[in-house]
Amino acid sequence: AAEPAAKHAADTAAPSTGLTDPPTRHHRLLAWVGEVAELTDPDRIVWCDGSRAEWERLTGELVAFGTLVPVPAKPDSFLARTDPGDVARVEERTFICSEDPEDAGPTNNWTAPDYMRETMTGLYRGSMRGRTMYVVPFCMGSLDAEAPMFGVELTDSAYVAASMHIMTRMGTEVLAKMGPDADFVKCLHSVGAPLAPGQADVPWPCNETKYISHFPGDREIWSYGSGYGGNSLLGKKCYALRIASAMGRDEGWLAEHMLILRLTSPQGKVYHVTGAFPSACGKTNLAMLEPTIPGWKVETLGDDIAWLRFGEDGRLWASNPEYGFFGVAPGTDYRTNPNAMRTIEQGHTLFTNVALTDDGDVWWEGMGEPPAHAVDWKGRDWTPDSDEPSSHPNSRFCTPIKQCPVLADQYDDPRGVPIDAILFGGRRATTVPLVAQARDWVHGVYMGATLSSETTAAATGKVGVVRRDPMAMLPFIGYNAADYFGHWIEMGKAAADEALLPEVFYVNWFRRGDDGRFLWPGFGENARVLKWVVERLEGRAAAVETPIGHCPTPGAIDTDGLDLTDDDLAAALKVDPAEWAEEIPLVESWFARFGDRLPAVLWAELDALKQRLEG
Ligand code: GDP
Ligand code: PGA
Ligand code: MN
Ligand code: MN
Repeated sequence: AAEPAAKHAADTAAPSTGLTDPPTRHHRLLAWVGEVAELTDPDRIVWCDGSRAEWERLTGELVAFGTLVPVPAKPDSFLARTDPGDVARVEERTFICSEDPEDAGPTNNWTAPDYMRETMTGLYRGSMRGRTMYVVPFCMGSLDAEAPMFGVELTDSAYVAASMHIMTRMGTEVLAKMGPDADFVKCLHSVGAPLAPGQADVPWPCNETKYISHFPGDREIWSYGSGYGGNSLLGKKCYALRIASAMGRDEGWLAEHMLILRLTSPQGKVYHVTGAFPSACGKTNLAMLEPTIPGWKVETLGDDIAWLRFGEDGRLWASNPEYGFFGVAPGTDYRTNPNAMRTIEQGHTLFTNVALTDDGDVWWEGMGEPPAHAVDWKGRDWTPDSDEPSSHPNSRFCTPIKQCPVLADQYDDPRGVPIDAILFGGRRATTVPLVAQARDWVHGVYMGATLSSETTAAATGKVGVVRRDPMAMLPFIGYNAADYFGHWIEMGKAAADEALLPEVFYVNWFRRGDDGRFLWPGFGENARVLKWVVERLEGRAAAVETPIGHCPTPGAIDTDGLDLTDDDLAAALKVDPAEWAEEIPLVESWFARFGDRLPAVLWAELDALKQRLEG
């Protein structure tokens, strides 16, 4: 790595940062660090360099504080138990602070930027007292990009600093690349738990008052009161989705809640597929899928976020801005997601809110046989007879992308990969078939804009409630969702040739039979759906035209070697006009929320669907 400009900083007129020798001459960064330090009053400031020694120092301190517990069965791995009130994203406390409330739209919480800044400045005053403020320079996406996407997070959480080591490219290399004046997204985070002199700390400091605020106009993020990843690792949801979606609107690209995978067919043909499913609806699993059908290969490029830009060839290319996986733990094991298990098996992993077994390993629901005894996520004794699960349903593993045994070589290519197909998907017990193909781009945008899914434990609030989650981005669109739909439609028009655009599909792995069991086996068997997708791209798979799109005939899905009854397959694939008729009023009231701002072509798609259902 290049030597940072750092060493010479002392002889410039840099503002005070609490350090005599800050490792950068970036004046706006130094000024901001100084301002925040003055406001939040930390005991000390540490500039993170991203080194191995720093990781050891951070995790060592976190173990000493009691925030982390070592997981001796895995190398260099640790477990955090959060405050039981700080376990998921807080959508009701997430704000888009645009000047005009219309620019936040009806799906976001809005507060005037000045008012939010005033309120939060009050909260931040002295909020880092007794703590260290970490300065975390990071880059979302490749450092070799033409215009690397920099951010700097100031945080009083060592857990956040350590997690940023895994989830982002960060530290000295990034500061060096930023030079003295690169633009960066300012990300301010405080757990909101200052310590008076001599006051003992708690293992998981946080505050009941929480704000996750975004200032899209200033490309700035202010987060307060929560240490949970989705609220505190500000490069992820806050920057790479909410702020980046607003950048994409202004600059002609898309920031999406998508996995990216590379698929090679038995004939050696390579395809790239992205998939947008709401949180805890199968992105990480699909991204690392181990196909059950012979000859097919899946390689991983990303499991949560994709940035989509047109390439010089007129195709849409996707890249993953992240550097690690922050995956849902429960349900992950060698049968469902062996590649995730192999990734964490190598260690260097932070687990949050899972159980610790007596032999010093992690365990969670869905990972094989339960241990006879464990310590649960709240630190209590747990046995299989306990009333509560051992792990929080939104417990997580945070692990480096480079440890993934099926990582595609292109993962760090700043251009990304050219996309052949986009999958939209949700968790629906009824109505939505295993797979349907859109007629064209606008129909695909309609599918995305009306996507629905049952709520999960990834966000606080009731679980299992069906809601519209457009493009799986409901909690992440940094501006008016109607404008966002319009932007998707414009992206289609911007394509040099519609034939170069990815084909759009709508999938549902979660349809249930009358007895409540999943109709489709899912996981590695989803390769059979990917195979149908590829055969559609190649123009050789059979489909029936249904009111909602092109669906496979039962014979078109390869069920060779699959233990699935014809009835279950038929039920998984079924498009029931009566069920779809029930969706119509829900979509009408969803669209009505956007008034005139909704692109008219989406109303036209709905009308056409109504006619097809009646006809
Ligand atoms: P993500 O949050 O979108 O990345 O979702 P994950 O891939 O982490 O999966 C969330 C939960 O859904 C986990 O408990 C998985 O075991 C489960 N899951 C993922 N894929 C499937 C599938 O194909 N079928 C079923 N039944 N469950 C799945
Ligand atoms: P997920 O990511 O999509 O893997 O659940 C975290 C989140 O969306 O909160
Ligand atoms: Mn996500
Ligand atoms: Mn995931």
